[in-house]
Amino acid sequence: MKARTCLAIVLAAGEGTRMRSARPKVLHHVAGQSMLAHVLTAVGAAGTTATAVVVGPGQDEVAAEAKRVLPGAATFVQRERRGTAHAVLAAKAAIDKKPDDILVVYGDTPLIQPETLERLRAPLAKGAAVAVLAFRPADPTGYGRLITSGDELIAIREEADASPRERKIGLCNGGIMALAGKSALAILKRIGDDNRKHEFYLTDAVEIARGMKLRTVAVEAEEDNVRGINTKAQLAEAEAIVQQRLRKAALDAGVTLIAPETVFLCADTKFGKDVVVEPYVVFGAKVKIGDGAVIHSFSHLAGAHVGKGVSVGPFARLRPGTKLGDGSRIGNFVEVKEAVLEAGAKANHLSYIGDAFVGANANIGAGTITCNYDGRAKHRTEIGGNAFIGSNSALVAPVKIGEGAYVGSGSVITKNVPAEALAVGRGRQVVKEGWAARLRALKSLSKKKAHSAD
Ligand code: UD1
Ligand code: CA
Repeated sequence: MKARTCLAIVLAAGEGTRMRSARPKVLHHVAGQSMLAHVLTAVGAAGTTATAVVVGPGQDEVAAEAKRVLPGAATFVQRERRGTAHAVLAAKAAIDKKPDDILVVYGDTPLIQPETLERLRAPLAKGAAVAVLAFRPADPTGYGRLITSGDELIAIREEADASPRERKIGLCNGGIMALAGKSALAILKRIGDDNRKHEFYLTDAVEIARGMKLRTVAVEAEEDNVRGINTKAQLAEAEAIVQQRLRKAALDAGVTLIAPETVFLCADTKFGKDVVVEPYVVFGAKVKIGDGAVIHSFSHLAGAHVGKGVSVGPFARLRPGTKLGDGSRIGNFVEVKEAVLEAGAKANHLSYIGDAFVGANANIGAGTITCNYDGRAKHRTEIGGNAFIGSNSALVAPVKIGEGAYVGSGSVITKNVPAEALAVGRGRQVVKEGWAARLRALKSLSKKKAHSAD
């Protein structure tokens, strides 16, 4: 049997009003990725063949995010915000291509899973015209209520338009709808704005389809898959759910999380085998951890690739562009940014390594700083393999330390150091024998004088 074509229409035209934010709603993050990215990833994995994203006027950032996540997605602008059905019709050109199925997904439902979307589409293959994702939220306030009779879906009533009796219904609209391509346009065109908000409600598709003698069904899902996010409190709830999912997936894949509830992951965090993550570690976007690595407590990682058997932290900060070779070590209070450390290199204490290359087995002593910024531009530091940088050295970039070279502790290095050389750049030590004893003798003499003058 030929697979059915499926157009996903993602509605993303909302503003951040109830989020109390200037940022468009769907660009708020859950587990380090925008809500829109979560939705598009689920849509992409659910067997859809085309995706249309509906954005508001001037929401170029939203369109750009859609393109970043799904480069094949087409974007359409809804010129005025006149309701969810009006938003769907902004993508009419995509509907005109006559897909077998249409999935309408709201950009503010980041918890949706591909399996749930597939389950919602299933009734269309059996002749239903409209399938609505239903759920029973702990608190139904704000959601549209589903009016059913047996297993038939009769109508969806928006809260603003519902009677007190209808408001008591616990079964709600998850905001995701599947429509058969062949009747979708006829249904959508009949939706009017005769309701309390004077909006074109997509939810009216149910009653209209029934009026056309078409079949409408509800497909029930777990609340945690369909929650809509309108406020910052709901965003935080979604974050907690996604973190739990990511922790469970990491544990299932064999990662040791000693206190999983204290570890914060990103949707794209990647782990090798036998990785240990100690309590209180935060992962930002684009982190990859190699086999056998240990991430010690209170470390913060983002945009970092950590090799096999590497030890990071405690209290380490790995920033984007960090690449740690196999068996290297980054210890406490070390910050690394845009830097490659080759295999076996070590920076165990209190350092900043930025815009740098550190060769294999080089040792960076405590308190070493790569001075990469001159107030205007960033410059690179290159440290050769097996080099030894003495503690509390400042390497003023651009500068190169040759292979196997030594830098004396406390040096300020402003010129290149050849391979195998020793560079010392600090004031010479001066020793004055007996100086302290002479000082003390002088002090006690002046005290006696002061007393005798009393
Ligand atoms: C909607 C549903 C409600 C459901 C709930 C689930 C309607 C009329 N109501 O209500 O039944 O229980 O979702 O979360 O559909 N949008 C546009 N253009 C518009 C209006 C909305 O793009 O003109 C987008 C928004 O960005 C958002 C989505 O559509 O991503 C849903 O809109 P929202 O205003 O959040 O609807 P709810 O009141 O939550
Ligand atoms: Ca909503």
